[in-house]
Amino acid sequence: MYSIDIMTLFSDTVGDMMNESILGRAQERDFLRIEAHQIRDYTLNKQKQVDDYPYGGGRGAVMQADPLYQCWKHIVDRYGPGHTIYLSPAGVTFTQAHARRLVRDYDHLILVCGHYEGIDERFIEECVDEEISLGDFVLTGGEIPAMAVADAVARMVPGVLPDEECFTDESHWNGLLEYPQYSRPEEWHGRKVPPILRSGDHKKIARWRRKQSILRTKQRRPDMFAKLELTSKEDRAILAEIEAEEQGEV
Ligand SMILES: C[S@@+](CC[C@H](N)C(=O)[O-])C[C@H]1O[C@@H](n2cnc3c(N)ncnc32)[C@H](O)[C@@H]1O
Repeated sequence: MYSIDIMTLFSDTVGDMMNESILGRAQERDFLRIEAHQIRDYTLNKQKQVDDYPYGGGRGAVMQADPLYQCWKHIVDRYGPGHTIYLSPAGVTFTQAHARRLVRDYDHLILVCGHYEGIDERFIEECVDEEISLGDFVLTGGEIPAMAVADAVARMVPGVLPDEECFTDESHWNGLLEYPQYSRPEEWHGRKVPPILRSGDHKKIARWRRKQSILRTKQRRPDMFAKLELTSKEDRAILAEIEAEEQGEV
């Protein structure tokens, strides 16, 4: 079973969120264990205070090392060692490839959510294996990034989704963005589903989807498009079509 422990000041909210829907069902079927731990339960003071002023001055408060350490130690004593990740805007930006590595290389993650101005560096030095950022922006807490990492990892754990195609056929798996998706009805607000998707011709549908994926990636993510190696006969034909269409538009 793959285990994810989340250390947070909002354990009820995080626990509720992680127990919903697909991830909740996967936990009922024992493919996964996700548990949120309240850091305040590991303070030694009556007020359950977990933060204090920053040495050197400055605004705000910093989460103290010891409550974080006691919470982390409780998890390790109970469930064994885990690859420990601090969610931080100063970390390496999270990607699908990163999520794949976390599923492949570990079976127990401990995710640490900071708050206020962040956490005492000495806890990071002693217990954290890597720092992950959700992107180049700053949030008030690490809960949303931790849930994003947990979700991205958990859905690739074998058994969580019905089969591997559920995620290998999606954006970012093979360097492409996904094609547009449609469901019933056939016409909505005067907008029709592309006729080819109703043709029943699976070969043509697959080619249409491939072309849409390549086109979207080219238009929306030139950085990803530049890294693609589209060398198959079919991809080269699709690229030629896209270029001809683009030139026709000018
Ligand atoms: C207000 S932030 C602290 C920012 C910190 N003072 C800095 O400038 O790097 C509080 C907490 O939110 C989380 N956080 C904020 N932005 C994040 C991001 N982009 N990715 C991951 N975690 C983030 C971290 O856990 C952080 O400890």
